[in-house]
Amino acid sequence: MKLIKIFALAGLALGGIMLASCEHESEQVHGTTKVCFPSEVLPIMVSNCNMSGCHTGGGELPALSTYNDLLRLVVPGQPSKSKLHKVLTANQISSQFMPAGADPLPKKYMDLISLWILQGAKDLDTSNVQFTATILPIFKANCERCHNVSMPSGGIILTDYTTIKECAVSGRLLGTIQHLPDYSAMPQGADKLCDCNIAEITNWINIGMPNN
Ligand code: HEC
Repeated sequence: MKLIKIFALAGLALGGIMLASCEHESEQVHGTTKVCFPSEVLPIMVSNCNMSGCHTGGGELPALSTYNDLLRLVVPGQPSKSKLHKVLTANQISSQFMPAGADPLPKKYMDLISLWILQGAKDLDTSNVQFTATILPIFKANCERCHNVSMPSGGIILTDYTTIKECAVSGRLLGTIQHLPDYSAMPQGADKLCDCNIAEITNWINIGMPNN
């Protein structure tokens, strides 16, 4: 049963079309994208494991508040061998089960954690940012529907390297996605981009906006 689940996740993760990482209004879409550790996994730990008296690092229980804390509990690429996955999926009446004394985490959180481990249990990493593979898909998934040639909202088109670079150079791009004062918060009417996407775009701008 577990194996079937892992294969299903692997299929979703590897077989799907490439979408911008973190674009996942629905759970199904997430299977094809990269899980963003600081925006998605860490908050689950903070709100379910790291409360007072539990995994804060003060007592004998291991802290669960940083990436390195969690890394000790996972075998990257192998959810079923990972302690983190084992305790979350243990029978609720066993002493292994976590979160102790509470209900099992919702399935969508468990699936997200499994997928994160399966994808290599990575932290936010901007070392490999490339325009075509990393940056453009973020704009396609989150911006293009309102910023294209037939609908250039606010006079701005964000469909290709030239138009995206132009917006970045003006300073408006970072201001809007970081929700800074004096800028319109983008994407309009939707959640803020995840920390990974914002870091990737920021990094791409800082390294001189290569068209690679
Ligand atoms: C649902 C439609 C919609 C989406 C999605 C959307 N925008 Fe916009 N955007 C608008 C509209 C409408 C305006 C003009 C009115 C305004 O400024 O609020 C605008 C204005 C802007 C501006 C100029 C405003 C300023 O303060 O400088 C920038 C830059 C921008 N958008 C970037 C983006 C980026 C980047 C994304 C994707 C991460 C995005 N937008 C997604 C509708 C959208």
